[in-house]
Amino acid sequence: MSASVALKAKNTPSPGTVGRGKAVTLDSLPTHTHWTDGQVSLHLGDSLNHYAQWNTPTVIVSDGAYGILGFEGDTSDHLGIAAWYEPHIQAWSQRATAQTTLWFWNSEIGWASVHPALERHGWRYVNANVWNKGKAHIAGNVNTAKIRRFPVVTEMCVQYVFEARLDNLSLQQWLYREWKRTGLTLRQANTACEVKDVATRKYLDQGHLWYPPPPETFAKMAIYANQHGNPAGRPYFSRDSIRPMTADEWASQRSKFHCPMGFTNVWERNPLKGAERIRVPEISGKAAHLNQKPLDLMSMIIEAASDAGDVVWEPFGGLFSASLAAKRAGRKAFAGEIDPTYFQLGLERFMPRQPALF
Ligand SMILES: C[S@@+](CC[C@H](N)C(=O)[O-])C[C@H]1O[C@@H](n2cnc3c(N)ncnc32)[C@H](O)[C@@H]1O
Repeated sequence: MSASVALKAKNTPSPGTVGRGKAVTLDSLPTHTHWTDGQVSLHLGDSLNHYAQWNTPTVIVSDGAYGILGFEGDTSDHLGIAAWYEPHIQAWSQRATAQTTLWFWNSEIGWASVHPALERHGWRYVNANVWNKGKAHIAGNVNTAKIRRFPVVTEMCVQYVFEARLDNLSLQQWLYREWKRTGLTLRQANTACEVKDVATRKYLDQGHLWYPPPPETFAKMAIYANQHGNPAGRPYFSRDSIRPMTADEWASQRSKFHCPMGFTNVWERNPLKGAERIRVPEISGKAAHLNQKPLDLMSMIIEAASDAGDVVWEPFGGLFSASLAAKRAGRKAFAGEIDPTYFQLGLERFMPRQPALF
């Protein structure tokens, strides 16, 4: 390396990672680095060191770097954000199953930057949801002549699922391959499924019109294929080459989703205020965490993608909003938070309230 290049490298500031938004720093450090009540496990430290010990997740709620210096370690813009997430995404993929949903919170550009890394590690994009905080909180005081853009009042919460693969094929490819192996015509799949033409139009479609047969219909398809298909190729629709998959096994190849009535992908909800917003008035009048999420939004995404007893991961805990919502909804939670102040303040949300003395 020439001297001038070396000098330049030395003088170039590394991307800023010092958080700008920290209103509260507690003097005393937490006495514990791990807390659990048997349902929720909270860890102080880098989540990368904890994933291996956490139970298999049905839901991962990611609310990490936004590229806005929102906390110590956040990057200063979206350019470094994919590299920031990469080791986490890799670890999630190692532990995810075909039933795992990832909710990825971020800004629009932050999400756009990380999306290729998510896809590369096997996460399939489902839907982008927009949290619209409304005009109220900018209160007309944004100088648009100075910022030269429209004021932003949204955050994204993007739904991904971990793509199931059978024989290294997507479910769509595998279903088609298995039917073709039987030697039966595609039309016979309609007979097998007891439908007019949905099997050929949807279940065996190889394009974007595909959707998977419901579990009971899958079971009918598998029975028919094994009864009428070429005997030499049996068993069909089997994972273990011994017997066809059951309806329940087929159902477990997909993530869960229960949509509450009347919901859309635009979530109208004011910014978090009032008693739920954690503050430490003795230290600062400001909110303790710049990015504390509302419990109702966390509950909605957790309940939509899991059942009672399922496991939720919250790798970037902050004040552990997802874990608290998970607990209230009867799920188990595993979470990490690297900053001792946030860990301590978040942990206190799980402590029983002291009765007022007066
Ligand atoms: C955007 S905030 C999460 C806010 C949280 N959703 C809430 O409602 O309070 C991200 C948090 O992740 C923490 N963090 C960053 N990197 C981490 C890591 N590798 N392991 C654990 N926590 C991390 C930061 O200290 C920060 O508090």
